[in-house]
Amino acid sequence: MVSLTTCINNLELKNPFILASGIMDEDAGSMKRILQEDAAAVVTKSIGLHERNGHSNPTFLELEHGLLNAMGLPNPGIDSYGSEIKKINNDNGKIIGSIFGSNVEEFEILSEKMQNYGVNALELNLSCPHAKGYGLEIGQDPEEINKIVRAVKQSVSIPIFVKLSPNVNDICMLAKAAEQGGADAIVAINTVKAMKIDIETKRPILANKIGGYSGKAIKPIGIRNVYEIFEAIKIPIIGVGGITKGEDVIEYIMAGASAVQVGSGIYYNGIQIFTQLKEQVIKWMTQNNYQNIKELIGVAHK
Ligand code: FUM
Repeated sequence: MVSLTTCINNLELKNPFILASGIMDEDAGSMKRILQEDAAAVVTKSIGLHERNGHSNPTFLELEHGLLNAMGLPNPGIDSYGSEIKKINNDNGKIIGSIFGSNVEEFEILSEKMQNYGVNALELNLSCPHAKGYGLEIGQDPEEINKIVRAVKQSVSIPIFVKLSPNVNDICMLAKAAEQGGADAIVAINTVKAMKIDIETKRPILANKIGGYSGKAIKPIGIRNVYEIFEAIKIPIIGVGGITKGEDVIEYIMAGASAVQVGSGIYYNGIQIFTQLKEQVIKWMTQNNYQNIKELIGVAHK
């Protein structure tokens, strides 16, 4: 019998599959549907202090090897979002509340409110690559990361995950700053900064011009980041980027991830991707004589 149970510090998950922030996670209905599949947890849409419309359209396009988006952190604001979270019956899995702020004080307020809504953990979005004053703009400074994580840690008692960007010189330095601030896990990676120009109109297609690239093409970038972070820190890592099949999950876990998040994979495979991943991972483990997924974490380093 294969065991897929994994732990992100003291958050126990029935398997390593988590819905990534930004897809099918704006309302309770879609998150409940995902939890009824074989996902162990869902990460909410990133929520800020106030309602935001996000960037103008076009905000999303499919490219040959991945997806490009510049949504601009649209969200209803933390006070309205509580009712969505409270509607989710989380008997089937865990809820991770994603938050973004522009400074320490905003992160403190957001984290306390999310905790009061009943989420099981927090994900700090310090990596959105296309929202002025948020995400990557503050998440590329190790001192700022350290200050924010330290403050959130003092405000709440639930585990804190920090989502980092690959669009930096040294992601390990940022992961260390988060770990020193008290983070319980690192989530890597957010999308890769990218652009598409329409050669007929000679203009960038996204209204925001620059967006974040996700999907199959970024998997090797995610793997490399997880591999390097694993050598730099001791806290668990959640791998994200380009997962569409069981072998991708195994690769992330061998690189050092204790769990994985799936976002764009839903665009390609539908929400049944969680069941597909579960079956494919179990099949691979059975064929390769592994009984416990934890045995595979970081084996590529040995
Ligand atoms: O705009 C968005 O909602 C995307 C957020 C992110 O990439 O972190």
